[in-house]
Amino acid sequence: MEKLEVEKIISQMTLEEKARSVVGVGLPGLFGNPHSRVQGAAGETHPIPRLGIPSAVLSDGPAGLRINPTREGDEKTYHATAFPIETMLASTWNREVLEEVGRAIGEEVREYGVDILLAPAMNIHRNPLCGRNFEYYSEDPLLTGEMAASFVRGVQSQGVGACLKHFAANNQETNRMIIDTIVSERALREIYLKGFEIAVKKSKPWAIMSAYNKLNGKYCSQNQWLLTKVLREEWGFEGFVMTDWYAGDDPVEQMNAGNDLIMPGKAYQINPKRKDEVEEIVNAVKDGRLNEEVLNRNVKNVLRVLLNSPSFKGYEYTNKPDLEGHAKIAYRAGVEGAVLLKNDNALPIREDARIAIFGVGQIETVKGGTGSGDTHPRYVISILEGLKEKNLKIDEELAKVYEDYIREMRGKEEYKIRRTFFGTPIVPKLPEDFLSIESLEEVASRNDVGVIVISRISGEGYDRKPDKGDFYLSDDEYRLIEKVSQAFRARGKKVIVLLNIGGPIEVVSWRSLVDGILVVWQAGQEAGRIIADLLIGKVNPSGKLPTTFPKNYLDIPSWNFPGEPKDNPRKVVYDEGIYVGYRYYDTFNVEPAYEFGFGLSYTTFDYRDLKIVKTENSVKISFTIVNSGKFPGKEVAQVYVRAPKGAIDKPLQELKGFHKTRLLNPGESENVEVEIDLRELSSFNCGRWLLEKGEYEVRAGASSRDIRLTGIFTIDKEEKYYP
Ligand code: BGC
Repeated sequence: MEKLEVEKIISQMTLEEKARSVVGVGLPGLFGNPHSRVQGAAGETHPIPRLGIPSAVLSDGPAGLRINPTREGDEKTYHATAFPIETMLASTWNREVLEEVGRAIGEEVREYGVDILLAPAMNIHRNPLCGRNFEYYSEDPLLTGEMAASFVRGVQSQGVGACLKHFAANNQETNRMIIDTIVSERALREIYLKGFEIAVKKSKPWAIMSAYNKLNGKYCSQNQWLLTKVLREEWGFEGFVMTDWYAGDDPVEQMNAGNDLIMPGKAYQINPKRKDEVEEIVNAVKDGRLNEEVLNRNVKNVLRVLLNSPSFKGYEYTNKPDLEGHAKIAYRAGVEGAVLLKNDNALPIREDARIAIFGVGQIETVKGGTGSGDTHPRYVISILEGLKEKNLKIDEELAKVYEDYIREMRGKEEYKIRRTFFGTPIVPKLPEDFLSIESLEEVASRNDVGVIVISRISGEGYDRKPDKGDFYLSDDEYRLIEKVSQAFRARGKKVIVLLNIGGPIEVVSWRSLVDGILVVWQAGQEAGRIIADLLIGKVNPSGKLPTTFPKNYLDIPSWNFPGEPKDNPRKVVYDEGIYVGYRYYDTFNVEPAYEFGFGLSYTTFDYRDLKIVKTENSVKISFTIVNSGKFPGKEVAQVYVRAPKGAIDKPLQELKGFHKTRLLNPGESENVEVEIDLRELSSFNCGRWLLEKGEYEVRAGASSRDIRLTGIFTIDKEEKYYP
């Protein structure tokens, strides 16, 4: 019925109307374009009233719906919930959490009149400095794909669409619109495409966004191999492909490659050299550069999806999503995503302990990154507010010193918070080492524990730096930690660092100065509440790292990031191939500060009774996890597989399955079952997937370097699978 309906509509369209159906209306609210009916939405498709086709509204993003919270001449507000950043969501390793967050965001999308959410973002953490890593899940494609699939299922259960992005190999911000990513087909298929493949197959997303960059010489949005051969023919994708905003340089090639929709439209508004896409498509059909059948196909792909959207169904949205309920979901996701890196009897803190909090981030807590992944919630609970709300014994005098300091400094020209043209906040870092030794001594003597907040922010359009103040602590941050450490430890008191960050920083040079380190990521609007409950042990941390914390920036495998020539890169060669993240550190014996999959708990877990059963097409692995400590908690069990030495070069091990337990009370246990399709053990070699014969080792454990159970199964016969 739908198919017929779409075909009927297309048969009634003029050429001009067809061209308009595959191009957006221009960036809403800017360059003289009218605002979208949902102000702050990123884009809108063309309506064709003559045929009863309304426009559809597309809006970011991964940590929650990004729309303007207020509208001119309108008293009402349109806040959306700020959820934890994707890296924190991935740190939960909990598919149910991702689905629940997806459902909540999906409801906000629908009730605010949006049709498609421009998320999840799912590029791989190739290098810790990619400015948008906070918007991405992990260095590992399986974890990425599984998290994305659950999120998409949640979003789409609400009758709106999700859009996977940025397809593919968009792993840096430096020159992102022109950079040429040179990468082997093996690394592409095993690392950079794999997560997308999992999400496409498991969750049937309505849309996918082609990336800005070139892939092996061709813009992703103009890359037929990527968008048609791999995505549609091999994986069976049934949604539509849209460009990233202003991506590529040739609308006709985009149409031919299988990029169905060009967004946001009117590229000439930002670059006078660019053509009007609608005109260009019409001309190309007329002069034979574009076959009208190809255009019809693209129109069909777009319309088939949009027919099911709320706008097309005339859904009457309320502008009243359940923000109260969603705040609770944001909280639940956050408490599962914090990662405890170090704990020398420092945590949890007793509820009656007197707590001194240091660091500007206790007040200016960073809720998420900047750019299209930003959100506009009703409020953000800072760390200080979160602790106060719990009636914990905060050193009020010290808190006041920080409040006054921040107010005074932000009044100075050089530290004023500014905004870019697109509204992105620029927040100059305030010096952290401003307390005298005497006052620190006093604070240490009147409190039981010291907590220091270290914050970072990054965002769209620029990469982080391998320098002090970013990947490394700034000198003043280091001095603050050192001085607080001296004052508190001299009195037998503990010091805890909270890392309010969007991606790894260096920790080795300072971690011995403190007794506890908790990565609280950028936890969204509920940040302070989440952190307070973790600190006092109301909730036991159960997050694990989805990305390695290297000891030193120079240890990372993607040494040539962000490409060459260094001052203005045009090309980036992925020399490291498949050796990304732990695949590199494990195989080449480079010891990280904290490995992939690592995370402590206030309790301990035992792993028992590994069983491996091989069937014709899969291997079934089961084992038991017991809470062997004194605190209720959840464990993330990981299953890695080590392949035999054969013809293909293999990493030491690869993640092939994982499971997060329910909350286990002390002494309680849960049986874990993980099934691995044998195809997932193959490697891409000479144009096909090859499963080599030999002995495979199953390695189940609490992190990639804390393997608790091992066992063997054998593949007797080599298999080849063609894509
Ligand atoms: C970003 C996308 C985003 C789009 C619309 C682009 O700059 O790369 O992730 O969805 O803008 O805001």
